[in-house]
Amino acid sequence: MKKAPETLRSARWFAPDDLKGFGHRSRIMQMGYGVEDWAGRPVIAIINTWSDINPCHAHFKTRVDDIKRGVFQAGGFPIELPALSLSENFVKPTTMLYRNMLAMDTEELIRSHPVDGVVLMGGCDKTTPGLIMGAISAGVPAIYVPAGPMLRGNWKGKTLGSGSDAWKFWDERRAGNITDKDWQDIEGGIARSHGHCMTMGTASTMTAIAESIGMTLPGASSIPAADVNHIRMCAEAGRRCVDMVWDDLTPSKILTRNAFDNAVVVSMAMGCSTNAVIHLVAMARRAGHDMTLNDFDRASRMIPVIANVRPSGDTYLMEDFYYAGGLPALMKRLDDSLFLEERTVNGKTIGENIAGAEVYNDDVIRPLDNPIYAEGALAVLKGNLAEDGAIIKPSACSPQYLKHTGPALVFDDFPAMKAVIDSDDLDVTADHVLILRNAGPQGGPGMPEWGMLPIPKKLVKQGVRDMVRISDARMSGTSYGACILHVAPEAYIGGTLALVRTGDMISIDVPNRTIKLELDDDEIARRRATYQPLPPRFTRGYGAMFSKHIQQADKGCDFDFLESAYGGPTDEPAIF
Ligand code: FES
Repeated sequence: MKKAPETLRSARWFAPDDLKGFGHRSRIMQMGYGVEDWAGRPVIAIINTWSDINPCHAHFKTRVDDIKRGVFQAGGFPIELPALSLSENFVKPTTMLYRNMLAMDTEELIRSHPVDGVVLMGGCDKTTPGLIMGAISAGVPAIYVPAGPMLRGNWKGKTLGSGSDAWKFWDERRAGNITDKDWQDIEGGIARSHGHCMTMGTASTMTAIAESIGMTLPGASSIPAADVNHIRMCAEAGRRCVDMVWDDLTPSKILTRNAFDNAVVVSMAMGCSTNAVIHLVAMARRAGHDMTLNDFDRASRMIPVIANVRPSGDTYLMEDFYYAGGLPALMKRLDDSLFLEERTVNGKTIGENIAGAEVYNDDVIRPLDNPIYAEGALAVLKGNLAEDGAIIKPSACSPQYLKHTGPALVFDDFPAMKAVIDSDDLDVTADHVLILRNAGPQGGPGMPEWGMLPIPKKLVKQGVRDMVRISDARMSGTSYGACILHVAPEAYIGGTLALVRTGDMISIDVPNRTIKLELDDDEIARRRATYQPLPPRFTRGYGAMFSKHIQQADKGCDFDFLESAYGGPTDEPAIF
């Protein structure tokens, strides 16, 4: 049944014949609008994460007008609300420190304004989960507009991929194999249009997840930012949001447990960023579903990686993925593993949305019987070094390191590692296990993307390009290598990682999903008894709140007080 205009949430602001109603109406008129613009029309907030220093969202400055056009066409009244931009490259120490701040920003922007529906504009890594987490908690109809990947990079006729090729060529530069001029030309060619990173990094992973849980229009996440189809998608999202308000199609009617399970399957087939685990767990828990690392490990054993996109693949990028049919085509290949009856923002089911999808290039979106990696993208390791779990991306690491035992070389923090990693005197071999600790949610702080520790320069010069690395940090979705990440509990709160000493033997066994510090329990207990906690990372401001409430990686790093089960629903604001 359609919602009646007088039951719109915004009517609480605009309809009453009282002094407050007068104030709201007169101030809308102050901006040049007349009663015919807003009366009886759904107010659609467009939450825009544009900023002058977010290159991934540079086009949002004009795309917002395309969304507004769609809202007007469908009889709604659009209002743009700017939100925290979270540019992955520029925000320090890490955008992950602020994902939950964006989620709070989004939730409270919606709650405190006369908003009936919301279009969320994001794409750069943390913006997708931040916006969606906030919209879940706010509970009004919401549709997600992904920024779209940037075009392929280009240097001397070679295709360049965001992040992945930066790391690769940086190692070549450290080894003295490329010139300063080459390096400058790579800088100018690796990011040559607006849009988010075009490898299967965190941005492409998270926008695909947004689509697979039903929060975007079908196919939206694969459209390159610079393609005019992206403009048309924006206008359509604006139109659709108005209808979602009349249909009262709130996130809770879309974001079922099955919808999140679909996202796990899609993530595995995409060769997803390791960050997918943290953000999906956080989004699912916001929606009231207790998703755990085991859900990912189970799916990873069944779902092959079929998206041949770097860094899991070695050739293609998101632009190629779009031309090959995009996410609907990939999901069509997975339809036996998906819940096809789940609703999406366009009012149709996943099954209806992918019914006509086709793959146009079998090398980019592989058939299930010819995957690029037979098992899933991620594996969850557990053992005395990570009682609550750690993550590895086997599809992006050298196979010889999937089972490995070697001596630890421990760095207590990032500066300590950086100070010596390029030293020719460093006592290290390719068999060593590099350990970086105090880089987790509390210790980092904010769990920075430091998990792909650089290979020591001495080894790079010998031709070593991969080795086992373990940390409580994250790594960029565009990173690769035998990096074991997200160790929980983290070192800073006294996890076993804090007790490792250089020279201790470490064993990892990815097929059997284990990670072990080769010490007996008594020795670990002795070391724990003398462990000295580090001083607080923050004593004031947002950081102090962050330190007090941030949860560990296996719980998605949400603030405890933002989860759905905390203290019951938040009241609508009083209007006096
Ligand atoms: Fe924005 Fe990579 S820097 S997505």
